[in-house]
Amino acid sequence: MFSTAFLDLPALQGAAGTVMLPGSKSISNRVLLLSALCQGTTVVHDLLDSDDTRVMLAALKQLGCGVQADGTTVTITGLGGHAWPAEAIEFFMGNAGTAMRPLTAALAVQGGDFTLKGVPRMHERPIGDLVDALRELGGAIDYLGNDGFPPLRIRQPALQLDKPIPVRGDVSSQFLTALLMALPLAAGHQAITIEVVGELISKPYIEITLNLLARYGIAIERQGWERFVIPAGSRYRSPGSIHVEADASSASYFIALGAIAKGAGIRIQGVGADSIQGDIRFMDAAEQMGAKITSGPNWLEIQRGAWPLKGITLDCNHIPDAAMTLAVMALYANGPTTLTNIASWRVKETDRIVAMAAECRKLGATVEEGPDWITVHPLPQRQFPNALAKGQWQRASIHTYDDHRVAMCFSLAAFNADHIPVRIEDPKCVAKTFPDYFEALFSVAHTAAKHIPVICIDGPTASGKGTLASRVAAQLGYHYLDSGALYRVTAFAALQAGLTLEAADEAAIATLARALPVRFEGEQVLLNDVDVTDAIRSEQGGMNASKVSVLPAVRDALVQLQHSFQRLPGLLADGRDMGTVIFPDAPLKVFLTASAAQRAERRHKQLISKGISTTLDSLRADLEARDARDSSRSVAPLKAAQDALQLDNSSLSIEASVAQVLAWWQSQRD
Ligand code: DC
Repeated sequence: MFSTAFLDLPALQGAAGTVMLPGSKSISNRVLLLSALCQGTTVVHDLLDSDDTRVMLAALKQLGCGVQADGTTVTITGLGGHAWPAEAIEFFMGNAGTAMRPLTAALAVQGGDFTLKGVPRMHERPIGDLVDALRELGGAIDYLGNDGFPPLRIRQPALQLDKPIPVRGDVSSQFLTALLMALPLAAGHQAITIEVVGELISKPYIEITLNLLARYGIAIERQGWERFVIPAGSRYRSPGSIHVEADASSASYFIALGAIAKGAGIRIQGVGADSIQGDIRFMDAAEQMGAKITSGPNWLEIQRGAWPLKGITLDCNHIPDAAMTLAVMALYANGPTTLTNIASWRVKETDRIVAMAAECRKLGATVEEGPDWITVHPLPQRQFPNALAKGQWQRASIHTYDDHRVAMCFSLAAFNADHIPVRIEDPKCVAKTFPDYFEALFSVAHTAAKHIPVICIDGPTASGKGTLASRVAAQLGYHYLDSGALYRVTAFAALQAGLTLEAADEAAIATLARALPVRFEGEQVLLNDVDVTDAIRSEQGGMNASKVSVLPAVRDALVQLQHSFQRLPGLLADGRDMGTVIFPDAPLKVFLTASAAQRAERRHKQLISKGISTTLDSLRADLEARDARDSSRSVAPLKAAQDALQLDNSSLSIEASVAQVLAWWQSQRD
């Protein structure tokens, strides 16, 4: 997961490959609650691991449910047949609507002394219609803040279930879902009837609820979309085990990707056209816009069809969440796209009509909006390779409003015709439903090397390159190449193979280097799966590296391996010749220096802290000898690239050096 302040997506040019999607949020949280209300255990496979499910699991544990997690398989031991807690419990619901609403209903029907709170945004999301319905049936619920909004306090109810319970259906279908899942708790000798007031929105989510309730032994009788009857004697029965489908709303980004990006097509694993999730109908909308889609029981394959895409007008009541993706596809169309019946966007994680309009406009698009609709006009596409369509897409920093879907939608803008990178602010907000979204995107997206930024940090030994480069990499969410480690590992492997580090063995060492079985895992360096980190990091390891690094054939053999680190979304490379030889076109090159005295002192402190005894004088002599060899060798000698920026960090803190490099990078991007 990217937990950086922002993520710069390079201009992307195509996509191909297979993605496995995480489990559906809607199904995951319903299944968790239903499993909790059953007697006995339910094994839930492919559960989504996200903020929303974590909130639900934490709440269920507080209630006394057994929860055993093993990767994405979670075993729930339900509360059925057990006494519910008598003591007061306070639940923190974060911003998880799919946990807040159904839990409120279940707790209100069951009764106890419960308080439900959330983040400030949760306290702005309406729940009044659900509370009204629960009060109608005898629930004892108080608002602790503003009327109609969380936080809530729930006490012991005085249930009255003999007359139909009215619930509004035109604000959020989650209220009806909440009642449908909670009321079987109270269906003893009498049937319970729920009556929907107003036009029911988001019917497909109700279909998911009914479908899952049936899996848990509750056969709801539905009369149109107005009346729902829970038969007398209904009881939750565990299905024993259940699989969660991949999230159809998450699939929308990859369906759109297949429709937008050039390439051999995208295959989505984990959900197919026969999904029980309403958002799967997004595929019909994507097809209308031009996508070519084929499907099997548990997969979808998407290819670009019409290009540019075709602008459409669509009532999106049936696909409220996935419809946001259409708003970004609209940027790639041949005419305006109008999405109607999307009033529910206004009460989601953020006001999504405002958010989508504002961010599309930042990219340069014209957008019109109304109370429950949005029209997005396209930005010019290049229909033919040489067609002129440049200069229309604006460089933008996309604000994401703590809304996962805004972040995921706008990643698709990186395929713009002007090859302009797109900044996504607060990328970790995708954790709500798809923590590894950007990793999944990068695993199938591709672009020319010239679009993948490399920042080079070269300099002499012990100048602090490694620390600086890895810190900057962490701030930008970029990969990190410690090229010195490759020379160190090469020397280590050569000695292990019984070779000398002299010119006589140059060819043999080069052969070794060309197929070096090295892997980097965080701070660890593994050679043939053996951890050699400490062995290569020694002073002797550095000297040995310096020796093999003067051999031209060895340097040559390591070029390809170094280039392979240039992957999406970008790279920080440190070494001696990153800017001069390996990545000569890098947009930012830094040459880091510090006085020999300073460097010797830093290295001395480092070694002492590791319990290695040494003297300052001998260290300084070693450093200077290494500098001399690295700078005087005939190939790729240590020297600043002509276009490198010099940074003398003798009297700078690490933080100040990091800030300087980031400032250079930012000004270079502006
Ligand atoms: O950065 P370091 O101390 O881990 O590097 C060890 C040796 O490897 C260094 O003395 C010279 C060599 N080296 C090189 O020649 N080219 C690089 N890009 C990186 C390191």
